[in-house]
Amino acid sequence: MWRVKDTYLTKEEERIYDGEFGWAKQVCMKILVKLGELFDASRLIPIESAHVSGVSYKTLGEAPTDFLEALASAGEKVSVEATLNPQGLDPKHLSKKLPKHLVEMQLKLCEIFDKLGFRRSFTCTPYYIKEPRKGAHLAWAESSAVVYANSVLGAWTNREGGPSALAAAIIGKTPDCGMHRAANREPNVVVEVEASLENEADYGALGIFLGKILEDKIPQIRGLRNPKAEDLKQLGAALASAGMVNMFHQENQEKSVKVKGKLEKITVEPRDIKETVAELTTAKTRKPDLIFIGCPHCSLREIREIASAIGNRKIRDDAEFWVCTSCFIKEKARAYVQKIEASGAKVLTDTCVVVTWTDMLGIKTIMTNSAKTAHYAPTLNRAETILAPLKECLKTALKE
Ligand code: F3S
Repeated sequence: MWRVKDTYLTKEEERIYDGEFGWAKQVCMKILVKLGELFDASRLIPIESAHVSGVSYKTLGEAPTDFLEALASAGEKVSVEATLNPQGLDPKHLSKKLPKHLVEMQLKLCEIFDKLGFRRSFTCTPYYIKEPRKGAHLAWAESSAVVYANSVLGAWTNREGGPSALAAAIIGKTPDCGMHRAANREPNVVVEVEASLENEADYGALGIFLGKILEDKIPQIRGLRNPKAEDLKQLGAALASAGMVNMFHQENQEKSVKVKGKLEKITVEPRDIKETVAELTTAKTRKPDLIFIGCPHCSLREIREIASAIGNRKIRDDAEFWVCTSCFIKEKARAYVQKIEASGAKVLTDTCVVVTWTDMLGIKTIMTNSAKTAHYAPTLNRAETILAPLKECLKTALKE
């Protein structure tokens, strides 16, 4: 083992660090070592997969695109299973409606990721494509997926930034720090939920409420009544967008962890959820320009539920209804997708409302069942929001 400041490297890692395998690998190794030094890692550990965010040209911009292009031109490739977050375009519905230069820049960016060897997953739910093994070390950058992987799937990942996930994808390793250490995954605050959570929007509201007060603590949440995996997906996505929480425990989880010592306790009352839903609803109207389901991207079960709730009904002529998912799930759910699209709704893949340019499509009010979207849309989409459960979203979108 060789030592670079506080991070121990193997002989081969040291040679990469010294540039023997080219500047591109060297830059990636230096990013990982720097992070390791900052967060007291003692070594680099192999990862099962990497997931990179910042794939939409809307959120990434020009300068990082140049860096990615240089890496790809140097012939660099990912060395582990490596997936991508949503980009700014849906191949079927949006490309023709958005300004040409944005479409061109986005397509160029996607080609660069192709050259680097990434899978064209374009989803924030890579775990629906391939579920990571329990206990596997990952380097994932999408915060909602990070919380889901740590809390629901039992995999181990820090919340990576775009550059560190990219570096990890190329090197195939990540520093052994933070959520990669068992001692850092224990709960350090207890949350007693006294409110009854009626639907997925309420789970998201709980996440926003807690995210704002927990900072980066790890809660053990008590009082959740048989949540579905999709409810926990909403909870985690919201927790991570309003705060820096990377993991939660549930008291009734199989093999639930024991709380050590006496921990701070937070109680969530019914009015906390009610007030948070109200805060996430900035619009005065209940007639949105767009009704959006699929943040995080829909699971197969959610697509099936939407199709069955729509039945043979049609979307109102003055409403736009988007369901976002990955192309992987869309392909698996073909029959349900046909049914949804027969109603006049659109099933979009590869993108989502937040990472595309909805303001350029004239969308000013968005109704959604996702607290994460409702949290971000006022700034990232310059839109007013209405947070409501799927049932109400469908009622608003469908003809009587
Ligand atoms: Fe995914 Fe977009 Fe929401 S990336 S988590 S659908 S903001």
